[in-house]
Amino acid sequence: MSKRNLVLFIASSLDGYIATKDESLEWLFQVEGEGDNGFSEFYDTVDTILMGKRTYDWVMNQDLEEFPYKNKECYVFTRAAAENTEDVKFVNGDVTHFVNKLKSQGGKNIWLVGGGELLQAFIQEKLVDELIITVAPTILGKGIPLFREGDSQLNLSLKRIRNFNQFVELHYEVKK
Ligand SMILES: NC(=O)c1ccc[n+]([C@@H]2O[C@H](COP(=O)([O-])OP(=O)(O)OC[C@H]3O[C@@H](n4cnc5c(N)ncnc54)[C@H](OP(=O)(O)O)[C@@H]3O)[C@@H](O)[C@H]2O)c1
Repeated sequence: MSKRNLVLFIASSLDGYIATKDESLEWLFQVEGEGDNGFSEFYDTVDTILMGKRTYDWVMNQDLEEFPYKNKECYVFTRAAAENTEDVKFVNGDVTHFVNKLKSQGGKNIWLVGGGELLQAFIQEKLVDELIITVAPTILGKGIPLFREGDSQLNLSLKRIRNFNQFVELHYEVKK
């Protein structure tokens, strides 16, 4: 059985922000990309999705007809009590234990959607195997940072670079 990887797939401004302070992604949607910028190709490689509670709230505020990740196992990390819905299960507790359990179960890759706060916990615990960062040609100046300060250094190996018109996709593997 091939190894199941945990992959961060996220879009960022050139200066490393994933949203404005007021959680807008308008700057991202304005960029001229190409097709779906590799999204469906990536989406097919995962069967499980992880996100932080603020990212989940952002998705739920989008007025979508239905939850966008219906056909995958979706987990939302929160420290508060929350009731599972038909689309997501809430997870509260040790991220390392949870991810190791998922990895031991086998399956396709696991998508870490974000945001930056949850990512920081995953970096700290060295749980991320690959990072695919789609860089927008935008300098936001301020916003919600992709990477937070921490004390865990990761060394990466570049696997691929490609562009979707104005977007640059950087694909790294974490060196173990
Ligand atoms: N550009 C992109 O591709 C992209 C992708 C994803 C998200 N975003 C944007 O990023 C923003 C949200 O990012 P964010 O960094 O502010 O928040 P986040 O990481 O999405 O969520 C933070 C929340 O997750 C929970 N959490 C974090 N670490 C945890 C841990 N170790 N254990 C258990 N629960 C944990 C906490 O929820 P509780 O407070 O409930 O305890 C925390 O308040 C949104 O605006 C979203 O739109 C952008």
